[in-house]
Amino acid sequence: MEKAQVAGELSGGRFAVLGMGGTIAGRAERAGDNVGYTAGQVRVEDLAAGLPALAGLALDFEQVAQINSKDMRLPELQCLVARVQAHLADDAVSAVIVTHGTDTIEETAWLLQTLLAPAKPVVLTCAMRPATAVSPDGPQNLSDAIAVAAHPGARGVVVVCAGRVHGAVEVAKVHPYRTDPFDSGDAGVIALVEEGRVRDLRPWPTQARHTDRVSAFLAASAMPRVAWLSSHADAGAWEVESLLGAPAARRVQGILVAATGNASLHADLEAALHKAEAAGVRVVLANRNGAPPVPYPAQPFADIDGLAPAKARWALALDLLGA
Ligand code: SIN
Repeated sequence: MEKAQVAGELSGGRFAVLGMGGTIAGRAERAGDNVGYTAGQVRVEDLAAGLPALAGLALDFEQVAQINSKDMRLPELQCLVARVQAHLADDAVSAVIVTHGTDTIEETAWLLQTLLAPAKPVVLTCAMRPATAVSPDGPQNLSDAIAVAAHPGARGVVVVCAGRVHGAVEVAKVHPYRTDPFDSGDAGVIALVEEGRVRDLRPWPTQARHTDRVSAFLAASAMPRVAWLSSHADAGAWEVESLLGAPAARRVQGILVAATGNASLHADLEAALHKAEAAGVRVVLANRNGAPPVPYPAQPFADIDGLAPAKARWALALDLLGA
């Protein structure tokens, strides 16, 4: 982790700008190539260089990681959580901005919100085109992220992309290519960024399911093993049986199952999951379509706060970490 500092005038305090890599920091061989590039190449202070929206601000840059977010591992996440926590505790810092890859940004955003529940804004931003693109989207997204960080009503962890501000709990990547790849489902976005101005639409995030787990998360050498299975046509028992048959040291402690429709599971898979539960494995369910289940008396397993699979898997791992 390396630090750089650009001093300037800012009445509201300093902004910490942390780089994690991703497409926003990507480089392609050819300027016209928006898909054949390497993520995580350009330093975070270079992404910010020359942006009019950042001129004159007091910014502390930190390169926390430089990776493609599909390859995110526990150490990088721990490092980010620790650095964001440290900046939030600094009275001189009014907001934290994180540049990050889009592929797992929804997991990182949810982790930061659920572990830290910050009163200050923690604004994650990203891009779908590399920094070398003919028309990169990263500079506008980073400028919008700064506008959100400076917005008087902003708080909690949000993802800013394509002029839309998504909450950490709801945000999901739903498209592999377009420059507005995120959706917030029925909740909708929290705010819009229009020409540097933030227009509020609904309350900012306050959720804090696992703030009591921060120290355990930061100290963990590995997270409790939680497998992510899915129900589907022709699903069966074999995946669960393989998990249960693993040697003790590699056995799962939890299974997150992505259900079809409204919390429905293939009967053969459901029977195997009940056996897993009887064997001491905690089983939790989320809808495969990402929407919160509509509860019904015979729901086969509990969901966690209606979370979508990627976040429910982390929530279960954090539950188990504290068990
Ligand atoms: C990544 O997630 O790091 C690569 C993809 C992207 O940022 O869009």
